[in-house]
Amino acid sequence: MTTGAAIGAVFPIFRQINEDLAMPNSSSNSPIDSLQHEDRRFPPSATFIKNRVAEPGLYGEAQENRLEFWARQARELHWHKAFSETLDWSNPPFARWFADGTLNVAYNCLDRHVLAGNGDRVALHWEGEPGDSRSISYAELTAEVKRAANVLLGLGVLPGDRVAVYLPMIPEAVISMLAIARIGAVHSVIFGGFSADSVRDRIDDADVKLVITADGGWRKGKVLPLKPTVDAALARVGNHSVSKVLVVKRGENTIEWSDARDLWWHEALANAAPEHEAQSFEAEQPLFILYTSGTTGKPKGILHTSGGYLTQVAFTHKNVFDLHPETDVYWCTADVGWVTGHSYVVYGPLANGATQVMYEGVPDAPAAGRWWKIIEKYGVTILYAAPTAIRTFMKLGREIPQASDLSSLRLLGSVGEPINPEAWVWYREVIGSGLTPIVDTWWQTETGGIMISALPGITTTKPGSAQVAIPGISIDVLTDAGEPVPTGGGGLLVVTKPWPAMLRGIWNDPDRFRKTYWSSFTGTDGAPLYFAGDGARLDDDGELWLLGRVDDVMNISGHRLSTAEIESALVSHPIVAESAVVGASDETTGQAVVAFVILRAKQLDKQTEAEASVLLRKHVAEQIGAIARPRDVIIVTELPKTRSGKIMRRLLRDAAEGRAIGDVTTLADPAVMNSIVDRLAEHRPADFNN
Ligand code: PRX
Repeated sequence: MTTGAAIGAVFPIFRQINEDLAMPNSSSNSPIDSLQHEDRRFPPSATFIKNRVAEPGLYGEAQENRLEFWARQARELHWHKAFSETLDWSNPPFARWFADGTLNVAYNCLDRHVLAGNGDRVALHWEGEPGDSRSISYAELTAEVKRAANVLLGLGVLPGDRVAVYLPMIPEAVISMLAIARIGAVHSVIFGGFSADSVRDRIDDADVKLVITADGGWRKGKVLPLKPTVDAALARVGNHSVSKVLVVKRGENTIEWSDARDLWWHEALANAAPEHEAQSFEAEQPLFILYTSGTTGKPKGILHTSGGYLTQVAFTHKNVFDLHPETDVYWCTADVGWVTGHSYVVYGPLANGATQVMYEGVPDAPAAGRWWKIIEKYGVTILYAAPTAIRTFMKLGREIPQASDLSSLRLLGSVGEPINPEAWVWYREVIGSGLTPIVDTWWQTETGGIMISALPGITTTKPGSAQVAIPGISIDVLTDAGEPVPTGGGGLLVVTKPWPAMLRGIWNDPDRFRKTYWSSFTGTDGAPLYFAGDGARLDDDGELWLLGRVDDVMNISGHRLSTAEIESALVSHPIVAESAVVGASDETTGQAVVAFVILRAKQLDKQTEAEASVLLRKHVAEQIGAIARPRDVIIVTELPKTRSGKIMRRLLRDAAEGRAIGDVTTLADPAVMNSIVDRLAEHRPADFNN
C-alpha cells in the first residue's frame, strides 16, 4: 500500500485518462487508441528461441534477489576495483550503486574489446548524408578516443569538468563523448537542432568549460551551420567559463574564427600523443548531464553517473535487442543529442562490442527510401526507431521500403512514444517481413535505460503494449490515492524500487529533483516512489499500455517539450500579450504543438493575424529550435480561464483535437470557448502547413 497526493488535482490530464478509459473509441490517432481491445498475439518462433540471448530464468533470478541480480550484471563490466556494496539507499532519493567500485566507462566500451582480440571488428559503419561513408574498427575508435582524451587533458579539462558537445551525427560525436568519459569529465550533449538561446542556457546552467562543435553538418541536402550558433551562444552567455572551442571540419561552410579561442579538431588530434592509459573513477563519478523539458520553462539537467548506468544500458542492449555481437549489425536511428543516442548508440552497443550503423542525415535525403537503402547496404539485422518515423513511412506507402532488400532484419524496436497497434503491425509486416519480433521499449531520459519491454525469444508480443518490466525493474500503476489499479484499470506509472541507471539528480537543483519525481507517492517502507509523469493502463493479462504524459509535457515525434517553455518563447515576442500551448494529437508526430495567442494590438485584420501566426512560428523555432515550432498558432482574443485566473488547457486540447468541449462551468466566461472553436475552424485550411 502506498500513499498518494491528490494527483487528479495536480494533473488534470489524469482525470482525462480516466474519462477516456470510459470511452474506448475516441480518436484513433491518440495514444488512447491503444485502449482498444487487442487480440493479436505473436509468440516467438522456434528458431528465435533456439538462439535467444535472454534466458527466461532472468525473471525468477531478479525476483528472488534483485540486488544480486544487478550485481551479477555489473560484474560483466571491467572493474578496476571490484565493488563490495551493490546499492546504498540510505538517503533516498539519492541512490549510490556499486559505490566503492572503480571503473573507466570508455575502457569498457573500447580497450577491453581490443584486448579481447576484437580490435578489427567494425564499431561504426558511418554513413554521411551526401553518400560519403567510413567504417571504423574498435582498434581505430580506441586510437581516436585516446588522442582526443589527450587533447582534452592538454586543454586543461579535469575530472568533473563539464564539456558541451554540439555536433551532427558524425563519428566525432561518439569519439568526443567517450574521450570526455575517459578522463572523468562530464559531457552535456546538446542536440544540433537547438537554437543559440537553448545552447546558451545549457552552457550557463552546467558552467561548461569547453565546447566541441563542427563547422556544420549535412541535413536535408544542405549544410546546417553549427559553429555560428555556438558563437552566438557564447557571445550572449553571462558568466560562462568556456575558454576553448574545438571545431570538427564537416560542412566546409564558411565560419568566423577566433584565434584565441577556436581550435580545429583534426589539427589538435594530429598533434596529440597517441597513447593514453585509462584511469579508473568511482562508480558514482558523474558521466553526463542531459537537458530535458519539465513542466516549467527551464529545462532540467538530468544527471547520470558511471557504473550503474553502464550496467543497465549494457544489460538491456544485449537482452532486449537479442544482440549477437559477432554477427549482428545494429542500427539505432536516434541522434546522440537525445538520451536514446546516449544509451543505445554510444554506451550500450559499445559496451557490448556491437557493430552498428550511424547515419548523419534525414530519412528522406536524397529520396524517401534512404533508410531502407542503408539497411540493405550494411545488412542491418536490428533496427531501433521511433513510431513517428514508422507512421511517416506508412503514409508514404510500402512500395518505398519494398524497393530495398530488408531480409537481413531480424528484430525491430520502438521507442519514444506510444506506438499504435496499426503502426506496430505495419512495422512487423512491411519492414520485418511479417516475421520479426517487435520490442516496444518504454523509458525516459531520467531512467537512463530501458525499463519496460518485451524480451525477444521469451515474450509473446502484443501490438500497442510495451508489456512488462524488464528483469530487475519494479513498476506499478497507481490510482491518484496511491492504490495499485486493478487489471483493466488506468493510473499513474511509478517505479517502486531504485534501479542502476536511475538519474542521480537534477544539476544544481536537488529540491526540484525531490519535488518532481519523489514527492507524489511513498512506499510501505517509507521510501519515496519514482513518479514518471506518464499515465498507464494494466490490461487483463497484467501487461502495460503507456498512455502519454499526465503533466504539461508534450511528446512531439518522440521528443519532449514543455508547454511552459514554448509559452515563454511566445511571450518573449513584443507582439504577444499572452499565450497558452497544448499538445494536440497528431496522426504522424504523436502530438503537435498548438499555440493560442493573444496579440498586444487586439484589433487586427485577418491578413495581419495570418502574418502574425507565421511570424510567431518562426520566432519559436529561433528561440528554442525547429522541433518546438508550433504546428498551429491560433490568434484569439481571450483564453479560457477559471475565476482565479488559471488557464484551462484541457479545454484548449479538446478544441485543438476537434472533440466536444468538456465542462466549461468553472470558466469565468463560458462563452470564450465558442469564439476559440470558431477561430480554429477559420485557421485550419489556410496555414496548416506553413
Ligand atoms: O511519455 C513517455 C514517452 O517519452 C517520455 C520520455 O521522453 P524522453 O525522456 O525524451 O525519452 C525518450 C526516449 C526514451 C516518457 O515519459 N515514451 C518513451 N518511450 C515510450 C514512451 N511512451 C510510450 N511508449 C514508449 N515505448
